[in-house]
Amino acid sequence: MNKKIAVLSGDGIGPEIIQEAIKVLKAIELKFNHQFEYKYALIGAAAIDKTGNPYPDETHQICLENDAILFGAIGDPKYDNDPTAKVRPEQGLLKMRSSLGLYANIRPVKSYDALLDASPLKNERIKGADFIVVRELISGIYFGKPRGRSEDQTIAYDTCVYTKEEILRITKTAFELAKNRKQKVTLLDKANVLATSRLWRETVTEYAKQFPEITLECNYIDSAAMEIITKPTKFDVILTENLFGDIISDEASVIAGSLGILPSASIGDKNALYEPIHGSYPQAAGKNIANPMATILSAAMLLENSFGMLEESKAIVDAVEKAINNNFVTEDINDGKFSTSQVGDKIVEFILA
Ligand code: IPM
Ligand code: MN
Repeated sequence: MNKKIAVLSGDGIGPEIIQEAIKVLKAIELKFNHQFEYKYALIGAAAIDKTGNPYPDETHQICLENDAILFGAIGDPKYDNDPTAKVRPEQGLLKMRSSLGLYANIRPVKSYDALLDASPLKNERIKGADFIVVRELISGIYFGKPRGRSEDQTIAYDTCVYTKEEILRITKTAFELAKNRKQKVTLLDKANVLATSRLWRETVTEYAKQFPEITLECNYIDSAAMEIITKPTKFDVILTENLFGDIISDEASVIAGSLGILPSASIGDKNALYEPIHGSYPQAAGKNIANPMATILSAAMLLENSFGMLEESKAIVDAVEKAINNNFVTEDINDGKFSTSQVGDKIVEFILA
C-alpha cells in the first residue's frame, strides 16, 4: 500500500522520539511491503522561531494533504514563565486540533504486568487495569468565548460551552469503542454543579438507550479522580469533556508505570493525528534518554485506525511489549539502561525477527 504521512516533530524531545517511530515505520514498510512517504512540517516553538506562527499555513496544508499525521511534542520553557508572551507553542496544537476538526481524543491506558512495580500504586490495585479515555478535544472551556481580561486586568474569564451536537459526536465514538470491549461507558462530569455537565448527562443517557447491551455509568469527576487510582479496573471506556479529560488522562498514566509509554489518537471526520500523551520534556532534549515507546505505539494506532493495517499495528505493539518484558527500556522505567535510539533499534529488531 502507498500512504502519505505528515510528520510534525515539534519541540524538546519531539525530534528524537519521532525519529525512532519513523525507524519503526520503515521496518514495517520493509516487512509488509508498503511504501510510506513522510512529509515533515513545523509546529510549536520550532515553528515560532522560524515563522513567528506556532501552526503555519504551510503545516496546515501538509496535514490536509496527507493520509495521517504523526506528531511528537510541543512546548518550550522559554514561554512557560512569561505571562506576557503573545504567541505560545501550545496555541499551535490547539489551532491544529480545531482547524482539522479532531474532536475525538482517544487515550488508551493499561497496566503491563512487567511494569507493575514501576507504578507507585499497589500492584493488586492496578493489575489488569485496561481502559480508554475518550476526551472531547475541540470545545468546552479550551475554546469557549468570551475569554480574556477586564480592561483594568483585575478580572479574568474563560467560558465553557458545549452544544448537543458536539456531545453526541464524541458519545458515538465512545459507544463504538465500547462495543468491541467490555461494553461499559463511564461518563465523567460535574452535573451537580455545571450546566454543561447536565447537558452532557442528558444527551449521553438518552443516546445510551439505543444500546441496552452497553452499561452506562455517570460519575462525578472529583470522585472518579479518586477511583481511577483506587479502583482502576472498574473502568472500560471513559467519556468526558475537554478539561476533565486532560486532567484525568495524566492522572491515569500513573497506572501504566510511565507517561512515556502512553499513545493517543485525535480523530476527526476527515483527518487523524497520532501523538504520545506526554509533553516535550525539555530537560531531556538532545540527550537520547527519552522513552520513544509512546510515539512508537502512536504509530501503531495510526496504522490500525487510519490505514486499516491491523497485522502491521500488532507487530509494533508486540515488539514494544517484548522490549518491556525483556527490560530493553529507557531510564523512566525501572531505571532502564537503554537510550532512546537503542530502544528504537531493539523494537525494529523484534519486528524484523
Ligand atoms: C495534552 C496537553 C495539551 C492540552 C496542551 C499542551 C495544550 O496537555 O494534549 O493533554 O491541554 O490539551
Ligand atoms: Mn494534558
